[in-house]
Order: sequence, then structure tokens, then C-alpha cells
Amino acid sequence: MTDIFSAIQRTAIRIKDAIDTKDIGYSQQENSSGETQLQLDIKCDMIIQEEFSGVASINTVASEEKEKEIVLNSSGKYFIAYDPLDGSSLVDVNLSVGSIFGIYEKSFEAKNMVASCYVVFGPRVEMVFAHNKTKLHLLQGENFEFVKEIRLGEKGKLNAPGGTQQNWEPYHKELVDSFFAEGYRLRYSGGMVPDLHQILLKGGGLFSYPSTSDRPKGKLRRLFEVFPFAFIFKTAGGDATDGERDLMELGCAHIHDTSPCFFGSKHEIQRVKEVYANNKQR
Ligand code: AHG
Repeated sequence: MTDIFSAIQRTAIRIKDAIDTKDIGYSQQENSSGETQLQLDIKCDMIIQEEFSGVASINTVASEEKEKEIVLNSSGKYFIAYDPLDGSSLVDVNLSVGSIFGIYEKSFEAKNMVASCYVVFGPRVEMVFAHNKTKLHLLQGENFEFVKEIRLGEKGKLNAPGGTQQNWEPYHKELVDSFFAEGYRLRYSGGMVPDLHQILLKGGGLFSYPSTSDRPKGKLRRLFEVFPFAFIFKTAGGDATDGERDLMELGCAHIHDTSPCFFGSKHEIQRVKEVYANNKQR
């Protein structure tokens, strides 16, 4: 695992440089979700594949930017699914973005996930790596230095509601409003990495990206976004659900499958489950 941790650190330094210097214009290509790729998305994808190609323990990789997985070394132990630059459409307005990595043994199944990591590129570059604990690291010069372990409180204060309100179920709107009515504050940038990073570092709260009338299966991708953050939140003492089931119990038939998702501290996730259970019975 140390070799993977080091490879991710190298990708972060190179991606930071690409964000700072690379032209962010649109390419002529679309990714697997039908979104036009930025030249920067393609560059970041290439950087990660190059760095991972040199790590003997990595068997197979799947990138959010590619249709299919790629076998790098069939005798390797680990399978890594990554989103090279989540929220890349926010680079042109200079908001924070991030890279996300889910690390599995033997296959891309949530039950086989052994570690998870994200890098947030903001005013500073930080990396959160969850294995047995969830640990924060800060880029200082050419090295990531350990800062602290991240532990979520039982209950937080932040509310980050994703998706278009017009397309929410009425009970989802009631749920979101009920937190605001209790004094929770809105914190939402439109980039899940910085939005979830804020909840993790400010003690807790709720991030939601529900099923909506235009996207009944949610927008966020299981392998590239949902499972990695579910693992991180649960390792940090929080919880994660699709409204009904634990996100880490979901399957994944195709590498680009999506799911509604809720990440937060235990109190907020319990409320989500109760509200969704009551409305499923109606
Ligand atoms: P992308 O990488 O395609 O820019 O998607 C970003 C994701 C995620 O980071 C964020 O929470 C969500 O999309 C926001 O989506 P909408 O603005 O479409 O609701």
C-alpha cells in the first residue's frame, strides 16, 4: 500500500502543476458519461495512468474518463478506480477541485475496498487517506506531511444539498429544510471533493445528492465518487447511505453506474434513513 500512497502523492504534485499551467479549453472528446472532456481532464487522467503503470502491486485501473478498465499488471493485488479531476468544470471559475481514488483487492466491489483517498486542490493541496484511520496530509514543498487524524462528531452543523431543487422529491425538500430550520448552514460549491472535505474537517453535517426526477439513479458514480467517500466517512466515524441501504453494500454492474448518495455524521444519516423509510412505505 505504501507504493500506492507514494504514487498518489506524485500524481498530486503533477496535477497541481497541470491545473496551474495547462490550457483548460474543451477537447473534441466526450467521456463515458457523455460530458465533453476538458484538455485538463485528459492530461490528469494521463498523469495518473503513467504513475500507476510503474507500480507493480496495481493490477487493474478504471478511470472516470475512460469507458473500460485497463489491466496494468495481472500479477498485482490491487484494483484502483479513480476520478482524475472531479469538478473540473469549476477550474475556470477558480474554485477547488479534487482527485478521488478507491483502492480494492481482487475486484471493483465495495466489499473488497481496502483503502480510499482524495486530494483537494484549493488554496493549498491536501490529501486525505483512509485505511484503518482517516488521515489528513498537507503538501509542503515536494512532500505531503501528516497533519492529523480526522474524526467526525456525532452531529454536525453544515448542510450541502446537491441536485436541482426543482427535481427533488417533496419529502427530500422537507428533509433538507428541516436541517436548515434547526440552524444548519448552507455550504455548497458544486464540487463534491471540497464540499465533503469541509464537512469532514468542520466536524460533520450532511452532503446529499438524491434521486431526482431527471436522474432517478442519482448523478454521482459509484466507483469513482460514491464508494470512495462512503469508505472515508465510515472510517472517520460517520456514515453513508443511498436513503435505504448502506452505500458500501451496493453492487456495481457497470463501472459507470451511479447512485443517490448521502454522506455525513451519524445523526444526520439516521434522519435521512428515517425520512426515506417513511416515504417508501406510503
Ligand atoms: P464533474 O466532475 O462532471 O464536474 O461533476 C462534479 C460532480 C460533483 O463533484 C458535484 O457534487 C456534482 O457533480 C454537482 O453536479 P450538478 O452541479 O450537476 O448538480
